[in-house]
Amino acid sequence: MAARVQIFDTTLRDGEQSPGASMNVPDKVQMALQLERLGVDIIEAGFPVASAQEFEAVSKTAEAVKRVSVAALSRAVTGDIERAAKALDKAAKPVLHTFIATSDIHIEHKLRMTREQVLENADKAVKLAKKLIGRVEFSAEDATRSDWDYLVQVTAVAIAAGADVINLPDTVGFTTPDEIREMFRHVIANTPGADTVVFASHNHNDLGLAVANALAAVQGGARQIECTINGIGERAGNTSLEEVVMAMKVRHDMHPFDTGIVVAEIYNTSRLLGNLTGLTIPYNKPIVGRNAFAHESGIHQHGMIANKATYEIMTPESVGRLRGELVLGKHSGRAGLSKRCEELGYHLTDEEISRLYEIFIVLADRKKEVFEDDLRVLIVAMQDKSFEVYHLEQVRTSGGDPAMAFVKLRKGDATFTDTATGDGPVDAAFQAVDRVTGYKGVLKEFSIRAATSGTDALGEAHVNVVFGKRSYTGTGASTDIIEAAVQAYLSAVNKYAALKAR
Ligand code: KIV
Ligand code: ZN
Repeated sequence: MAARVQIFDTTLRDGEQSPGASMNVPDKVQMALQLERLGVDIIEAGFPVASAQEFEAVSKTAEAVKRVSVAALSRAVTGDIERAAKALDKAAKPVLHTFIATSDIHIEHKLRMTREQVLENADKAVKLAKKLIGRVEFSAEDATRSDWDYLVQVTAVAIAAGADVINLPDTVGFTTPDEIREMFRHVIANTPGADTVVFASHNHNDLGLAVANALAAVQGGARQIECTINGIGERAGNTSLEEVVMAMKVRHDMHPFDTGIVVAEIYNTSRLLGNLTGLTIPYNKPIVGRNAFAHESGIHQHGMIANKATYEIMTPESVGRLRGELVLGKHSGRAGLSKRCEELGYHLTDEEISRLYEIFIVLADRKKEVFEDDLRVLIVAMQDKSFEVYHLEQVRTSGGDPAMAFVKLRKGDATFTDTATGDGPVDAAFQAVDRVTGYKGVLKEFSIRAATSGTDALGEAHVNVVFGKRSYTGTGASTDIIEAAVQAYLSAVNKYAALKAR
């Protein structure tokens, strides 16, 4: 039997650090439950000391996820470690992940410490973490730019202090496959106690080598890969989970390692993340991009008809993609809708299906055919409405300088209307919403895109709005893009209003 490589998913922590990828607490929990279905071994849910929202996200994820481990990140600092341990209180299988930088450039310029002090901190941090939580991962940040013999020293200290997992990250995406393979071999061969821990590899994609480096690290002895869905993460992102897992599956001859990933759940997981964050997946992204299995040239199409293996190294079905679109119309019915949702990997409650059916019928009336991608967007928009305090009844705008907007909102049995001017119709409509609700948020991010093609395509809007110290995301969907934008904005406002009411 092939050796097992653990998949440590950090979509909700490192992934969420990518600009535009912020998720609110319920989004993170929903994503975590999907990651559990996907079969990852560990979910890194956040960095609890960073904010109250991060703490809550880790704590709620730890409560919701029972089959797989949940990890929380902390610097090698007492306060951080205690906060991370507290956030993991309800976890069935908690992992405390603590890190300190080990490269001279970080030690001198960021930490302003000596190598000796870093060793002392690592020792203290791992000992404290181990006292609080049964399983501890220690990361030597910027390991790939660290002196290898010093790395051996740090690793030995962390193992002696009780670490169960040693992670040697390529924090700045600088290493190459040959180098990282040798680095793991060197550290594993020279560190006392190396055989008692699992070595992990965490790679950034600044040179586009993250997946190749993760595979090489495994050849060098790593048995845990840290990665994210769609490869999101700091700067150019992290090792993409779907790519590294499929590389080991498709090229098992070269990389004879198994993971616990249910590959048929890959596409649903990727799309869920895209729909929750609004981060678009490039069309040519391997495995999950729109074109990843499209064959355009005549020669390729001819080959595909003769035998799919001529141009396909894996099938779209194997990663949960359907050949051809699922099409629904207004005659599909509630049961048909429910079945399609299940096929797309969304396990909705009866109440959610009823709410979805209401907005589906409105869409099916406006648009003859409702495609798979429309449905995914509708589901996320419907779930986002579970906090609804104000309901959008109507929005009307007119262009010009300034643009004008009229909105009609319902709260309980009462309706409220107001008008406002703004810099464009979307801005005017958001201002009109502010006038009705009395809440003034700061819009940090706003994106709008078509879920499918055609002039009647469903518009999918995402916003990130800051109220006070917290940010709130919102999603909206409509064939009218201004309505989609206002729905998204109102959804963020509603989350804030619901929290205030609590
Ligand atoms: O890139 C990195 O070094 C990290 C560590 C905190 C593991 O994300
Ligand atoms: Zn990282």
